[in-house]
Amino acid sequence: MRITGKTRICALIGYPVEHSLSPIMHNAAFQYLGLDYVYVAFNVPPERLGEAVSGIRGLGILGANVTMPHKINVIRYLEELDESARLAGSVNTILNRDGRLIGYTTDGLGALNALKYAGSDPLGKKVVILGAGGASRSISFTLANYARELVILNRTLKRAEELVSDLKRVFGSANIRAKPLSEAVLRNELKDTNILINATSVGMRPNENETPAGRDVLHGDLTVFDIVYDPLETRLLREAKMVGAKTVDGLSMLVHQGAISFEIWTGVKAPIEVMREAALKKIMGKAD
Ligand code: ATR
Repeated sequence: MRITGKTRICALIGYPVEHSLSPIMHNAAFQYLGLDYVYVAFNVPPERLGEAVSGIRGLGILGANVTMPHKINVIRYLEELDESARLAGSVNTILNRDGRLIGYTTDGLGALNALKYAGSDPLGKKVVILGAGGASRSISFTLANYARELVILNRTLKRAEELVSDLKRVFGSANIRAKPLSEAVLRNELKDTNILINATSVGMRPNENETPAGRDVLHGDLTVFDIVYDPLETRLLREAKMVGAKTVDGLSMLVHQGAISFEIWTGVKAPIEVMREAALKKIMGKAD
């Protein structure tokens, strides 16, 4: 990759960012398409967030991804929010349009595209989402437009109820419910569910022996989508495969949300498979 005086910059703002797969993924895509762009990661502690965002304006950085712990706090420093970010109350992508910073969230659409790409379009389907945190919020605000029925299960029921009441304020009488995340509820709800999404952190390394939904509540007519990508095959996905369910892994989510950011910045269709391969190589420890 040759950096010139004309090279445009995209940045990641997070804390920590050292292990992010985004630089590898986006630079592979820029290189593959011969675009004169480079993607770099900045480790920005919370008290420097305002200065970092001013830096995007000051330096003319074209775009940025925003990750933990800044997805909500960054909003106050932006000039404009796209509808997706406004609804979810979260920003993971910034576009610098001539000094005006516009915030987007691509997490929800990324999840939708990951499902569609795998041949499991949620349109008209019953979807169960586990978790009521930031990730669940972004995904549920997108899927509420598509699913026939949306059920949010969370360990802390109150959080799920708050999310459902926010969703209902926007989507009115849509078929959306909150329930506690328990084995009995899972067993009952999953019977006629088409798509199960894990948007909790359960099963993530170093707790890879845990699962948010045990094998005996899963069945072969499900598509099971886990947003956890470390490990790539979580216990949930392994057991889903054992019962004959279709699976979609967390790397698909990462790649598809990244692809939408890429398209917002460049206006060019993102090379999904190139991005996935590059991220996969890094996960497997084979990246240079
Ligand atoms: P994120 O922004 O990544 O979604 P978060 O806002 O911290 O992160 O949300 C984490 C989600 O995982 C929550 O739904 C959390 O449940 P609670 O609201 O009850 O805390 C869920 N979660 C985390 N650890 C869990 C566990 N051991 N069992 C069940 N749910 C868990």
